[in-house]
Amino acid sequence: MAAVRKVLIVGSGGREHALALRLLASAAVEEVIVAPGNAGTAAPPPALPYKRLRNGGQDAPLAIAKREGVDLVVVGPEGPLCDGLVDELTREGFLTYGPSKLAAELEGSKAFMKGFAVRHGIPTARHVVVGDGAATASDLEALVRSFEIPPVVKADGLCAGKGVVVAESHEEALAAAREMLSGQRFGDAGATVVLEERLVGEEASIHAICDGERYVVLPAAQDHKRIFDGDRGPNTGGMGTYAPAPVVTPQVMERFEREVMVPVMRGMAAEGRPFRGTLFAGVMVTPEGQAKLIEFNVRFGDPETQVLMATLDGDLTEALASAARGQLDPSALRASGHHAICIVLAAGGYPDTPRKGDVISGLAEATLDPAVQVIHAGTVLDAAGNVVTSGGRVLGVTASAPSLAKAHTLAYQAVAKVHFPGMQYRRDIAGRAGLSLGLVGGWGPAPNR
Ligand code: AMP
Ligand code: GLY
Repeated sequence: MAAVRKVLIVGSGGREHALALRLLASAAVEEVIVAPGNAGTAAPPPALPYKRLRNGGQDAPLAIAKREGVDLVVVGPEGPLCDGLVDELTREGFLTYGPSKLAAELEGSKAFMKGFAVRHGIPTARHVVVGDGAATASDLEALVRSFEIPPVVKADGLCAGKGVVVAESHEEALAAAREMLSGQRFGDAGATVVLEERLVGEEASIHAICDGERYVVLPAAQDHKRIFDGDRGPNTGGMGTYAPAPVVTPQVMERFEREVMVPVMRGMAAEGRPFRGTLFAGVMVTPEGQAKLIEFNVRFGDPETQVLMATLDGDLTEALASAARGQLDPSALRASGHHAICIVLAAGGYPDTPRKGDVISGLAEATLDPAVQVIHAGTVLDAAGNVVTSGGRVLGVTASAPSLAKAHTLAYQAVAKVHFPGMQYRRDIAGRAGLSLGLVGGWGPAPNR
């Protein structure tokens, strides 16, 4: 099989910048194009001056793939995956890593995902579907009250991570469900609503690279979704991550593979939707040590990718290309033994109304240590060549080291060098691992406990 020299990555976030840097590190890869990309993907990092990294512009991915003659396409975000971009590129003859439109329904429809989990015996929260004929809105109040603890309310379709309400009372759950069903809150994505039992435990993100049949599981990561320290304030796309996450012990991982990975791979193939691409299970690790499925995502997590790239050894480009061909060798990737942490620097006003257009300073100073990478997300270059903010999550300061304590110190030292007006970040990333390892100061109780 010809080596992959030129790769197109579709997307513009931190996930795509982190993937680009990791794919560039593969010996055979000469050039990575990110489209649309951000200020970080506009030029190669100083460590790799002999490789090319650039942005591909705003054209449709197929047009860029044709123009550039790429050997592999990696599709980052869920939107184009659920819209069938992988099917389109594959039809046109491009080797493309990511799930088909049919397989992407695992993320695109929560009702499909829940039904699938029930059909295949995958442990997940008890649920009912409202609004697609399974139950009518008039039964809503009775359904909400049928859950002893107020249920979690979820819009069926994609809502950029905002379609979930973890209600504190039955009244709040009922109001959220009514609002979603009315179409006021999420339009069509809320026309069907899932009510589900609230799970108790500690969350983790477990990713697997899959070829339709085989898979390789990556070290578990933990995200910090709330905006403020101590898991307070509104949910965000993710304010920071670390990996490996000690809550996923080898025993929990073994059980996860047996109870979730094996049935999902077999079940998707049996239902005519073999899963190729990254399957990211958001799980709740219960006090009994079982990983119960909260959701499936059909892509790499953001900011999980930033830390996962540092916890893997092996040629990731070859692994993704062979998975896309349906010929993954699961031994091609191994845990590196390193620990990594990513601190997200978010714009003022995030998550509601992020400020844009502020000049960022200190980027060069922050990356003096080679163990630190500043991964770009919501950044653009202005006409004068300054890096300016352009979105909610602006940067992900990422460090890796042989210990989590060392990575933690390096990352926060680097954060202190970066500045832009209104910058917000959490001071307690990896605090929960710190509690169990005795490394860093703790903070209040974990949510859902
Ligand atoms: P999701 O978009 O499905 O990942 O949900 C967003 C967040 O809501 C998750 O990361 C959890 O923190 C929380 N959540 C979702 N479902 C449940 C559940 N059944 N029990 C407890 N928390 C949940
Ligand atoms: N960080 C969570 C996600 O990517 O969905």
